[in-house]
Amino acid sequence: MHDISTEYKENFEGKPPRLSQVEMTELVLPNDTNLLGNLLGGRLMHWIDIAGAMAASRHSNRIVATVALDSLDFRHPARMGELVMLKAKLTWVGRTSMEVKVSAYAENLKTGNVILTNQAYITFVALDSEGKPAPVPPLILETEEEKREFEEAEERRAERLKRRAKG
Ligand SMILES: CC(C)(COP(=O)(O)OP(=O)(O)OC[C@H]1O[C@@H](n2cnc3c(N)ncnc32)[C@H](O)[C@@H]1OP(=O)(O)O)[C@@H](O)C(=O)NCCC(=O)NCCS
Repeated sequence: MHDISTEYKENFEGKPPRLSQVEMTELVLPNDTNLLGNLLGGRLMHWIDIAGAMAASRHSNRIVATVALDSLDFRHPARMGELVMLKAKLTWVGRTSMEVKVSAYAENLKTGNVILTNQAYITFVALDSEGKPAPVPPLILETEEEKREFEEAEERRAERLKRRAKG
């Protein structure tokens, strides 16, 4: 018989970020662009949110809600006909919240050139069946970079909570 309690316990022993990371690829079509043929910022933010939510859901095995999106810099435009690759990876978890780093890259199919266009940190909260915050498994940090990201995420969280408290 399938033992749910064992599965719950195993999940709560923690998961490394590599088990929940997500790679998503989109083709920039005419409907995704502005009059200059560049990818619309709003469309990119939507893709970033989706990629981040999939990683957070994979980690928590729950539906998640976005509670904060840190500043999003547009470093380089993605053009019509290019591929946009989104890589989402967990950087930090609290009790019910998770921070995900999403990096967006544009790939020119004619030249093969790939450039980093955007980076964002998004916070999601795992929800139970009643839409209330639910505990998430700990994050097992395996690399030096993951340990550094986790420490930096603690500082970003403190800033976010300060902003939230100010209302
Ligand atoms: C998600 C929601 C149910 C959480 O309810 P809440 O009353 O804020 O719950 P809490 O205060 O217990 O916060 C839950 C967690 O989120 C964190 N959190 C909440 N707002 C945050 C913010 N702005 N930045 C960072 N973390 C935040 C809390 O610190 C807590 O983390 P922890 O459990 O890891 O310590 C509620 O905020 C909500 O419905 N928000 C709207 C979500 C939404 O509509 N998103 C867009 C579509 S998905």
